[in-house]
Formats: sequence, C-alpha cells, structure tokens
Amino acid sequence: MRKITANVYMTLDGRGVFPEYPTSGQPSTEPNPLFRNMWYDRFDDVTTVVMGRRSFLGHQQTWSEKALDPGEPAWLIDYRRYLDRVEKVCLSHRLTSSDWENSRILSGDLAEILKKMKGEEGGNIILEGGPAVVRECLRRNLADDYWFFVMPVVYGKGPRYWGPMDGQTTLGLIETKPGKNKEILLHYEAVR
Ligand SMILES: NC(=O)c1ccc[n+]([C@@H]2O[C@H](COP(=O)([O-])OP(=O)(O)OC[C@H]3O[C@@H](n4cnc5c(N)ncnc54)[C@H](OP(=O)(O)O)[C@@H]3O)[C@@H](O)[C@H]2O)c1
Repeated sequence: MRKITANVYMTLDGRGVFPEYPTSGQPSTEPNPLFRNMWYDRFDDVTTVVMGRRSFLGHQQTWSEKALDPGEPAWLIDYRRYLDRVEKVCLSHRLTSSDWENSRILSGDLAEILKKMKGEEGGNIILEGGPAVVRECLRRNLADDYWFFVMPVVYGKGPRYWGPMDGQTTLGLIETKPGKNKEILLHYEAVR
C-alpha cells in the first residue's frame, strides 16, 4: 500500500512561512541535511506529490526547471528536475487544467481523495502543503507519517498549521534531527 507523508514547514508558533534567521539564507553547495531527508532521499520511493492550489501554483512558478537561475547549485537543479518529472496532484475546485507536466487536478473530500490515491498504482506520496491542506490532514490525521521542519523563529503572522481540532491526535516519534541552521526535524508516525 502506498504510504502518505505530510511535510510541515513551520515556525515555532506554527506559521507556514520561511523567515530569515542566522545563516538560513546563505548560499550553499549542499542542501540542508533536513531537506536531504525530506526530499533527496525520497526521490526514488515517492512518485506523487500532492499540493493545494496555491502551493501548486507557487511551486510551479518557483521550483520548475523553467524558473531556474543561471549558476544555481546542482542540488537545487536536481530538486527542480525531480518536481518536474514526479506526478503532481493539484487540489482545486477552480482549476480545470495545468501546463505543468505530469500534473492532474482533483477535488473533493481530502480523506476520500487520499484513500483513492492509495489504491492506485505507484510509489509513496508526499502531501506538500500548503498549510490549509496540511491543516486539514492534521485535523483528521490522514497521513501515515509527518515530517515537521521547525524553524527557530516565533513569527506571529502568516498561514497557520494549527486550528480547531475534532479531538486529540497522538503521534509516535520516530526520529529527531538538528538542521544546519538550528532547525529541528521531527519525524512522527500516525498511531491508529
Ligand atoms: N509547502 C508549501 O507549499 C508551503 C509551506 C509553507 C508555507 N507555504 C505558503 O502557504 C501559502 C499557500 O498555502 P495555503 O494554505 O494558503 O493554500 P494551499 O493549501 O496551498 O491551497 C489551498 C487551496 O487548495 C484547494 N483545495 C484544498 N483542499 C481541496 C480539496 N479537498 N478539493 C479541492 N480543492 C482543494 C483550494 O483551492 P480552490 O480555491 O482552487 O478550490 C484551496 O483554496 C503560500 O503563501 C506559501 O508560500 C507553502
């Protein structure tokens, strides 16, 4: 059965933003080791990436190979090429088509969509935001595991990952790792 991983990139106060903090913006010849865990180590097993409409359009604009800056490090180009070739599912009621290769549009109840996708042929699935879609996933505990990339900033604004919940969700800790710029990666699995 295909496994669904939800990626959560948040500040300490649960905001889905990417603020600057010491050394975070410095150019590097290597990816942050936490991104290696969340992405590069998964290029072979993950064959589908799911995004809400805003996140999908933002990723296409920023991370497709067409958007690359000359002189970018090879690891960033590898990430762009992966995102171009992987199957992408955009969740939207408004869009009917997309010109980003290997993508399709789906809409409906998130639990039903993910259940249907699990039954399809393919490798594992990453639910890559944005915060609205991941919030729904967290509220209903729809993923099999969760990677929380926690940035050392209390930001106070921006989209929220946390909102009213139906009840308690308990997760099982698999691993914690410190990042290059004092982030923390928390890897949890669903407890069912
Ligand atoms: N990984 C990331 O992408 C990431 C991480 C952190 C922060 N951010 C930031 O977060 C912002 C975008 O996130 P967001 O939370 O505002 O939006 P989002 O989750 O990317 O997209 C929300 C949209 O997805 C569609 N959608 C969600 N569930 C659906 C369903 N079950 N069926 C059909 N459509 C569904 C709806 O679009 P329609 O209106 O078309 O129906 C909804 O308006 C950006 O500013 C981005 O920079 C992104």
